[in-house]
Amino acid sequence: MQNKYGHFSQDALEFIITRPDTPAPWVNYISNGKYHGLVSHTGGGYSFYVNPRDNRITRWRYNSLPADRPGRYVVLRDRQSGSYWSPTWQPTCVALEQFECRHGLYYSRIASRYQKIRAEVLYFVPADDLELWQVTVRNEDETGKTLDIFAYEELCLGHALVDLINQPNDQHFNEVYFDHQSEILYATKRYWVKYRGATVQQANEAWDKLVFFAASLPIKSYDGSREQFIGRWRSESNPIAVESGGCSNSAITAGDAEAALHMELVLQPGEAQTFTVMLGVVPKDEADPEYIVLGAENCPGDCQPMRVRRHRASKIAAEELVRKYRNPAEVAKAFAHLQEKWRTYLAAVRVATPDDEMNILLNVWNQYQTSVTFQFSRDASYYHGGLLFGRGYRDSCQDTLGPLMTHPEWVRERLLEMAGHQFRDGSTFHLYYPLTGGGEKTGHSDTPLWLPLAIMEYIKETGELAFLSCKVPFHDADEATVFEHLLAAIEFTLANLTHRNLAKFGPGDWNDTLDYLGRAGKGESVWVTMFLAYILREMIELCDFIGETKKAERYRKEYQKIEQALNTHCWDGSWYIRGTNDQGAVIGSGRNAEGKIFLNTQSWAVISGIARGERALRCMDAVQQYLETPKGPKILHPAYTQINPNIGLATRCVPGKKENGAVFNHPVSWAILAECLLGRGDRAFEIYKKAQPMNPVIDIDRYQVEPYVYAEYVTSPDHPLMGQASHSWLTGSSTWMLRDGIDYILGVRPTYRGLQIEPCIPKAWRGYEVVRRFRGIYYHIKVANPTGVCRGVKSLRLEGEQLPGNQINLDDEHVNRLLANKTKVAVEVMLG
Ligand code: GLC
Repeated sequence: MQNKYGHFSQDALEFIITRPDTPAPWVNYISNGKYHGLVSHTGGGYSFYVNPRDNRITRWRYNSLPADRPGRYVVLRDRQSGSYWSPTWQPTCVALEQFECRHGLYYSRIASRYQKIRAEVLYFVPADDLELWQVTVRNEDETGKTLDIFAYEELCLGHALVDLINQPNDQHFNEVYFDHQSEILYATKRYWVKYRGATVQQANEAWDKLVFFAASLPIKSYDGSREQFIGRWRSESNPIAVESGGCSNSAITAGDAEAALHMELVLQPGEAQTFTVMLGVVPKDEADPEYIVLGAENCPGDCQPMRVRRHRASKIAAEELVRKYRNPAEVAKAFAHLQEKWRTYLAAVRVATPDDEMNILLNVWNQYQTSVTFQFSRDASYYHGGLLFGRGYRDSCQDTLGPLMTHPEWVRERLLEMAGHQFRDGSTFHLYYPLTGGGEKTGHSDTPLWLPLAIMEYIKETGELAFLSCKVPFHDADEATVFEHLLAAIEFTLANLTHRNLAKFGPGDWNDTLDYLGRAGKGESVWVTMFLAYILREMIELCDFIGETKKAERYRKEYQKIEQALNTHCWDGSWYIRGTNDQGAVIGSGRNAEGKIFLNTQSWAVISGIARGERALRCMDAVQQYLETPKGPKILHPAYTQINPNIGLATRCVPGKKENGAVFNHPVSWAILAECLLGRGDRAFEIYKKAQPMNPVIDIDRYQVEPYVYAEYVTSPDHPLMGQASHSWLTGSSTWMLRDGIDYILGVRPTYRGLQIEPCIPKAWRGYEVVRRFRGIYYHIKVANPTGVCRGVKSLRLEGEQLPGNQINLDDEHVNRLLANKTKVAVEVMLG
C-alpha cells in the first residue's frame, strides 16, 4: 500500500514517510511503560513521566503556528558556511535533498541528506527512564567538514495545564543549571501542582523529579534559558545560539526553561560518527542537598548570585544513567531489546489472509495501536492534549481487549485497578487519575457496565476462574471479591431502570454528546438497555459455567423482561429507536425530522441477541440503506441541523463531523461484529475494508491523518469536507476492529471452555491461516473454504484428529490428550 506520502516496509513493521509535508503531523509513540513520548515524523511532540498532565517533561504548544512545535530537535551547522538545518526537517524547514521517517513499534527513525551530509536520528525509550536520540552523521563530500551540533528542546517541568494557564507565575519556580564536571544539564521546578481546578491556593510542594539532559560527545556550550538560546523575537527555527555557532552558557532560576547542548563533529570525507543525546528523569531526593552558586557570570553590578539546591542522590542516579548510555554498545543493546520485546508481543497473533491490508493491520499496526490505547487511554495524543482526561473508565475497560491476547497479566493488573475505582453501589468513576488519585463521577449510564465485560473476557482468555475470588476494595468501602464487583455493576444498572424496564439515559451514554436527554432521570437509553441485555446474557453464561444457578436464573428473568421491553417499546417499524428524553420525545425514529436512525441501536440489537430473525436482518438492512458511506456506516442519519437543547451537544456539532453524523469508527466496528453474528460475511468484510485506515477511497490529502492507525471518525457526506479524518491513535475502534478481525471475521474466539472457531468471511476467500496463542499454546489454524461459503464449519481437526462441532473444548479429555505437553498444535478447519 502506497500513497504520495509513504508506504509500509516490506515486513510491515515500519511505516515509511517519504516527504515531510504530510497533510497533518503523522505521529508515533515512544515508551517504556512509564517514560513516554509522542514523536511526529518531523521530530515534534512531547515527553512525560507516567502522567501527561502532572509530570510533563517537555513542552508542546497547543494550536501553534507553525504547527507541531516544539519537539526534540537536532540542528547541524556547517562551521565553514554557517548554514544550518535539521535532519528532521522541522524546526528549520530547510528544503532537504532526501527525507525519510520510519515509524516503528515505539521508535521513530528520521533520516535526511543535505549538502552532502547524511544525518539520522533514532528516537526511543530504553527500559530505564530516559529517552535516547541516537544520531548518526555521515560526510558524503570529498572535503572534510566541521559541524556544530545543537540538541535542544523546551522544558515544561511539571503540571502541563498550569504551565499553560498560569505561565507568568509558574516560571518563577523553574531551575536549570549545568554541571561542568559530569557535563549534564539539570532542570527542575520548586513547586508542583497536582490538581486541575482553578484556585488561588498555591501548591506547597516541590516537583519530585529532576530532569537531566546529556550527550555522549563533549559539550562545548549549553543553555538553560529559552530567552538566551532562542534570542529575542526568534523561534526554535532560528535560535540565536545556532545562528551564531554557540550557546551562551545560561542557567536560570526563573524564566522559560530550555535544555540545549552544543557539540562539535569533525568528519573526514566518507566518515560517519554516531552519538547519543539523553533526556530523562530521576526522583528528586530532598534528603541530602548541597548548594551551588549560579549566575555569578551573568550578574552585572551589585546583584546577588543565586544559591541553588542540588540533590546529591538524584545526581548520582542521573550520572549513572548517562554513563551507561554514553556507551554505544548499551544503546544498541537497548534498541535490540525493544525490538525483540515488540516482536514477541506480535508473535501471539499472526494471520495470513487474502487481504494484504488486513494482514498488515492484524499482524502489526492494529495490535500496536491497541497497546497504545491500553497505555494512554484517551489522554495523550495530538488530539487529546494530555491535560484533562486521565484514564477514562469505559474506554479503558474496552482497551483491555487488545493486549488481552498477548499480555493478559497487564490486563489483570488493570482490572484490579479499575475494580478499585468502583463504588459500593456499583457505580464507577467516569475517569480517574492513577498518579494523583481521585477521579470524576459523571453518572454516564453505560460506564459501570464495561467492567463486567472486561472481566468476563479476561476469564475467557485465561481460564483463571480464581480471579473472581480476588479481593479488591471498593473506592468507598471495604474489599469485595471481583465477582461481587461484577454483580454490583449489574445490580446498579438494573436498579436504575424506568417503569418501562428501559435504562435511564442520565447525562449521557456511550455517546457523550447525547448529554441532555436524561438529566432529570426520565429519558431512556435504548442502547444502554441493549448493552445491559448483552451483559446479562454474558453473565448467565458465566453463572451457568461456575455453577451459580440461582443467579443465572435471576439474570435469565431480567434478560427476558428487558428483551420484551425493547421489542415492545423500541421497535420503530424498520429499526430500533435510540432513546427518549426527559420530555418524553423519541430520538432515532422515522417520526423525527433529523436523527431518524442511529447505528448503535441496530448493531447492538443483534449483538445483545434481543433482535431475532426478521428484525435482526431488517435493522441491519436499514443501516445499509440509510447510513452507508464510502468509509462505512454513519453514526446517525440525517445529521442534526437544528439545535435541540433537550438532546444536547450532538445537535450543536456541525453536521457530518464527530457524533453528529460522522463515520465514527467505534460504532462502525460494532456494525461489523453484528454482521458477522448474522453470518453475512461479504457485508461484514465490506464494512471492515471500507474502514481500514489505508483505504485509498478517500484521497490522502483529504483524509489527512495517519494511514497506519484508525482514527476516531471520518467526516461523512453530510459535510463539505467529507472524508477528512480526525482523532487518530486513541480510539475505541482500534481494539474492536482488532477483535472483529480475529474473533469474528477469522472467527478464532475464546470461550470459557476453550476456543471456538466460527469464521464469517467473504465467499470469495478460499482459505486463510491464523496463529493464535491461547492459554500458553500456539494454535496454527488453517481454514479451507473450497465451496465458497461465508460461514459454517463442516469439520475441525486438532493434531489431525476430528473434533465434534467447532469447539476446541479444554474440558474434553480427548482434546486434553491431544494438547498434552505441546506448545504448538495444528488445527485444520473445513468450511462448507
Ligand atoms: C470518544 C470517547 C468515548 C465515547 C465516544 C462517543 O471516543 O473517548 O468514550 O464513547 O467518544 O461519544
